[in-house]
Amino acid sequence: TQQRITVIRGDGIGPDIVNATLQILDKAGCDFAYDFADAGLMALENHGELLPQQTLDLIAKNRITLKGPLTTPVGEGFTSINVSLRKQFNLFANVRPVLSFKGTKARYEDIDIITVRENTQGMYSGLGQKVSQDGNEAEAMSKITREGAERILTFAYEMALKEGRKKVTAVHKANILKSTSGLFLKVAREVAERYPQIESTEMIVDNTCMQLVMNPHQFDVIVTTNLFGDIISDLCAGLVGGLGMAPGANIGDNCAIFEAVHGSAPDIAGKNLANPTSVILAAIQMLEHLGMADKADRIRLAIKEVIESGDRTTRDLGGNHGTTDFTQAVLERL
Ligand code: NAI
Ligand code: MG
Repeated sequence: TQQRITVIRGDGIGPDIVNATLQILDKAGCDFAYDFADAGLMALENHGELLPQQTLDLIAKNRITLKGPLTTPVGEGFTSINVSLRKQFNLFANVRPVLSFKGTKARYEDIDIITVRENTQGMYSGLGQKVSQDGNEAEAMSKITREGAERILTFAYEMALKEGRKKVTAVHKANILKSTSGLFLKVAREVAERYPQIESTEMIVDNTCMQLVMNPHQFDVIVTTNLFGDIISDLCAGLVGGLGMAPGANIGDNCAIFEAVHGSAPDIAGKNLANPTSVILAAIQMLEHLGMADKADRIRLAIKEVIESGDRTTRDLGGNHGTTDFTQAVLERL
């Protein structure tokens, strides 16, 4: 039967880069059926809320969602839509691969690193947020459970096996954050023992940042807790030419949402300037998740050829073309 996919075009540059991606999926012969759903500012205008029930129902029903960036209005008591989605669907694993292409602003060649970030616990759990009455003391709780740590670590190793990766580095700060990061590291060592075919290393987070900048080729798969994963994955995006090149998958037991790491880029929205590569790479992650590796490889190759030859690339990649020209160049290669 035909695979149905929920598509949220999103705000700002979202519709342009998501539409470009759908054209590319169709051209590659993917034969998906799309159910379009609203979220973010567009949903607020059309339905009076940021995350309408019918959108949640479609995400649950099709289990696979491709999503453009969403604008969360500042203030007015709105909680981040992305955080809500991750919580609602228990999307515990955030998989953020970076791959360098020649001829871009990438700092190094041959970068190929996947950060697996725990998406629901740690400093971002939202637990115990308190500010004293005089406003001079603030606290929040960081919570790690054995179950949560084991789930993300096992996910990272299973992914490494499936994708033929050789090394997993568990990133922590157990020397200072003895309880939380300590538990994560303890479980990391236990899980590592179950995968003797993969090289397991551990590294303290601050050293990891320095090592990523100085000698990034030592890394293959990085697995870490929520806050460290957020920061490290942006650092990795910086290694390969910026946010326009960075996709992310949010994966749970029952559903998955594939998206760009960047936001709605209001500064360039509606100007045909956005680089659609991040969402196209997110769609490639989606294809691999669906067991369609051949189609994923074809699209990745087409992108690589366009970017490395500098044929109609966007400004952030050093070119002087727009979203539509870039997309056309990829379509022609497919
Ligand atoms: P942003 O990621 O939208 O933009 C940062 C800078 O990167 C801007 O200069 C932008 O022009 C550039 N940029 C981003 N994507 C690009 C692309 N594909 N091609 C070329 N240049 C690109 O971050 P900002 O401005 O802080 O946030 C804007 C809005 O996005 C906010 O409302 C924020 O809440 C939302 N946001 C949504 C996310 C999501 O839905 N996953 C993630 C991050 C932010
Ligand atoms: Mg982030």
